[in-house]
Amino acid sequence: MQRIGIIGVGEIGRAIVEGLRDGGGDGGGASPDVFLSPRGARTAAELSERFERVDVCAGNQEVVDRSEVVVIAVRRQDHHEALAGLTVPEDRTVVNLTAGVSTDGLRRTLATGAAIVGAIPLPAVRERRSVTVTYPSHPVVDALFGRLGGVLPVADQDAFDVFSALTSTLTAHYAYLSTLTSWATDHGIAPDAADHYVRGLFQSVGRSLGDESRPLHRLAADHETPGGSNERIRTTWFDPSNAAALKKALDGLLDDLR
Ligand SMILES: NC(=O)c1ccc[n+]([C@@H]2O[C@H](COP(=O)([O-])OP(=O)(O)OC[C@H]3O[C@@H](n4cnc5c(N)ncnc54)[C@H](OP(=O)(O)O)[C@@H]3O)[C@@H](O)[C@H]2O)c1
Repeated sequence: MQRIGIIGVGEIGRAIVEGLRDGGGDGGGASPDVFLSPRGARTAAELSERFERVDVCAGNQEVVDRSEVVVIAVRRQDHHEALAGLTVPEDRTVVNLTAGVSTDGLRRTLATGAAIVGAIPLPAVRERRSVTVTYPSHPVVDALFGRLGGVLPVADQDAFDVFSALTSTLTAHYAYLSTLTSWATDHGIAPDAADHYVRGLFQSVGRSLGDESRPLHRLAADHETPGGSNERIRTTWFDPSNAAALKKALDGLLDDLR
């Protein structure tokens, strides 16, 4: 693939461009030319200034006209305004990143017979460290995300939606860490010290997650002394009813995604 277009140049659009251009190494092939939509003007202008062969187009139709692969990265509420009325020739490949907009819905909006592939990249594509789920599998799209940290093509839409729901749990995790920090400051610890310490604690968790030879339940057991304080917090706070509440929230989200 030589030419990639991005309609909606915000957080994830920027991460894709940065991953393609300076994510480290050449990612296994020459980086494609990039064509950006004019909206998200400040980000688009900054990327175009920073990188060779990254151009800002006059409109969304020009993005489609100049690209082989067109990535749709607008928010759900903006997708109709951004896309209705565009002409998308059948030889284009459209990559749909917009959570909550189905492939069928997008096909109706674009009124095109072009291939449409759903994908769930995360901002870590910037460092080529995020595994991107795709459906349906498509050689060009899978190769694109393969060079941005890896690709996980799934067998059907139901599986895609399950992974999409999983990605929605990240900010709750940050809020959990922030709650730990504020609990410490409630007990007289200086905010800087609490923040620094909690970050360090959980960076070591991040590193141990990289060891895939141990299943997750094993990692929990390995970090816990029987009858000790980690076991106490796990069983008194993250108890079966708390775990069930989390699964219920995910089920509700999954219902909405479908
Ligand atoms: N962020 C993530 O980690 C992530 C991961 C996977 C998928 N996604 C999906 O990707 C989409 C974008 O997320 P985001 O976090 O990148 O949002 P964002 O930072 O708000 O970026 C959305 C961009 O779309 C632009 N836009 C709005 N209307 C447009 C139009 N008519 N034509 C062209 N561009 C238009 C906005 O421009 P203005 O600033 O001018 O309004 C903004 O730059 C969402 O649907 C989200 O579900 C996000």
